[in-house]
Amino acid sequence: MLTITLPRPDDWHLHLRDGAMLRAVLPESARHFARAIIMPNLVPPVVTLTDAVAYHGRIKAALPEGMAFDPLMTLYLTEATDPADVARAATSGLVKAVKLYPAGATTNSHGGVRDLAKVLPVLEKMAEIGLPLCTHGEVTDPEVDIFDREAVFIDTVLAPLRRRLPDLRVVMEHITTEEGVAYAAEGGDNLAATITTHHLILNRNHILVGGIKPHYYCLPVAKREKHRLALRKAATSGSPRFFLGTDSAPHIDSLKEHACGCAGCFTATNTMPLLAHVFDEEDALDRLAGFASLNGPAFYRLPVNAARMVLEKRSDPCTWPDKIDTEAGPVTVFNPGFPVHWHVVS
Ligand code: DOR
Ligand code: ZN
Repeated sequence: MLTITLPRPDDWHLHLRDGAMLRAVLPESARHFARAIIMPNLVPPVVTLTDAVAYHGRIKAALPEGMAFDPLMTLYLTEATDPADVARAATSGLVKAVKLYPAGATTNSHGGVRDLAKVLPVLEKMAEIGLPLCTHGEVTDPEVDIFDREAVFIDTVLAPLRRRLPDLRVVMEHITTEEGVAYAAEGGDNLAATITTHHLILNRNHILVGGIKPHYYCLPVAKREKHRLALRKAATSGSPRFFLGTDSAPHIDSLKEHACGCAGCFTATNTMPLLAHVFDEEDALDRLAGFASLNGPAFYRLPVNAARMVLEKRSDPCTWPDKIDTEAGPVTVFNPGFPVHWHVVS
């Protein structure tokens, strides 16, 4: 029997939603993760410090008795965002980042940014005070193929922005390409990248071969196999530039299994067993703590969790529910399509 012990992990990119969905999915994250960076793409989005304080209160109120969880809040960047409000949000200690959604890039992003020039005063303030910008790194130009949108974003948006504001601290969220890996690896101390659990497991064939699999559809969409392998190499490299952000993104089944299905994989429930499986396959179990527990706090300048998590490899496979029931409808838990023998034992 093989056992590994880590500082309790954090999730540096998580969708908790609101209301009935929040109540149902929050325990799935709080069971394993001490903290998470909470995405602000609600309807309406979390734009101001006042919105973030209220949403933080709703998350804390939804947490079941006896569970501990620290939601690290983000603001949704709009072309009307006030730099002074962002500065107050950072000083409050409640808000740990601002999220850039290019308008139209993904779920509830229509209120995001069309013209980066309009948000430069906010980004300059963030560079000055050291507040990280989390980026959904895809261009939305209809001329750009969906599989190229991340690489084009790096070349045409991110690299010019970082040349203009080298002090801006940036997290490239949920990278999916070898171009993303290469850019993040060379970016210096002000740059990091999160990698999801599902992008370490899926390539685009998994979504499309043998019938379309709506529960494997997310954004950025999974790419060719060579990109999945580059992500595995980055995650298991030990480089402090890469850390876990699950992008666990619940949608009810009726909206996933739909003619125009929503993007998102729900991995909150089984991420830690899946990651142990992947790191075991890559012969890198000694690097799982870096990826899931150490590199994120280092970038966000937060302490490492004092509590521990123990995972054990057993001959019987790990089990989890196929679906989480919510008052809004069922949410399918990510199914990797292979048995996983790593169990979270404490
Ligand atoms: O797959 C995704 N789902 N990607 C995103 O960027 C947003 C997320 C969501 O909110 O559903
Ligand atoms: Zn996301």
